[in-house]
Amino acid sequence: RIPLLIDTDPGVDDALALLMAFADPRHEVVGLTIAAGNVGLQHTVANALKVCEVAGRDDVPVFPGCDRPLLHPSPDAANVHGRDGFGDVGLAPAARGAESRHAAEAIIELSHRHAGRLLLVTLGPLTNVALALRLDPTLPTRVARLVVMGGAVTAHGNITPSAEFNVFFDPEAAHIVFGAFPRFDLCDWEAALAHGVLLRDAERWLAAPGPVAAFYEAVSRHTRRWSEDARGERWHSADGLAMAMALRPDGVLESAERPVEVVLGHSPARGTTLVDWQRQLGRPDRARILLRYDQARLEDQVREALG
Ligand code: BDR
Ligand code: CA
Repeated sequence: RIPLLIDTDPGVDDALALLMAFADPRHEVVGLTIAAGNVGLQHTVANALKVCEVAGRDDVPVFPGCDRPLLHPSPDAANVHGRDGFGDVGLAPAARGAESRHAAEAIIELSHRHAGRLLLVTLGPLTNVALALRLDPTLPTRVARLVVMGGAVTAHGNITPSAEFNVFFDPEAAHIVFGAFPRFDLCDWEAALAHGVLLRDAERWLAAPGPVAAFYEAVSRHTRRWSEDARGERWHSADGLAMAMALRPDGVLESAERPVEVVLGHSPARGTTLVDWQRQLGRPDRARILLRYDQARLEDQVREALG
């Protein structure tokens, strides 16, 4: 089985992605490294532990990481995910606690343990991975594949006019990661928008018997109503799509390889992912950008995770 390390900030769509990873027989989740992002670190760690518990995966170590971006503070996404990141439904905390080792150290250690085979998937701000790269710049040589959920490849943002949340939350970290990995798969916000599922279908799947569907029905309630008001009948799971393509690369029907830069500084474009579609800057094509994923496959993966 392919060893899978997930860096995440749960978050409602992160939770779905984690459940998808746990349900996949071809991958073994070897750890979760946690960042602040959607909400504060204390909540994202508690939420990761809770997902493990619900999925019956208390054997998966959870490593708390950075509680803020590398340089500049940034607002969270509690309006979408709820103040506790899980829809404020008053879940009992998981019985288990987190590991004491820092996420950045755990990323390095797990990359040694699974050198040449490790699949690293990032579903949140890239702070932990950037810090790991500063501690050990040889990290990319041991990671077989990196899949990043982040960015908006034609500058159709979700947190500012042109920036996507994960990159905007810590643009300096994204800049470090995008510059260090010679190749990575990018699942951006615009791909997520193009792969929505009908809310009425999702709500049917959420009615499946068993604790996993009941848990996800509860934590996603707030964000489903928010999504319906903001975007209508289709519900978009950015992290779910990123995990789908990470687990099943054969479901990618169309992609494009291009250079990607992150806009830093404090203009209104801060955190924008600038894709050099016409290759005008002469930089290497590092990002394989997801354009189309098999929608039926995606929906099967989500259903299996909930069922
Ligand atoms: C990303 O931002 C977060 O709110 C989601 O969890 C996802 O990782 C989408 O822009
Ligand atoms: Ca996320």
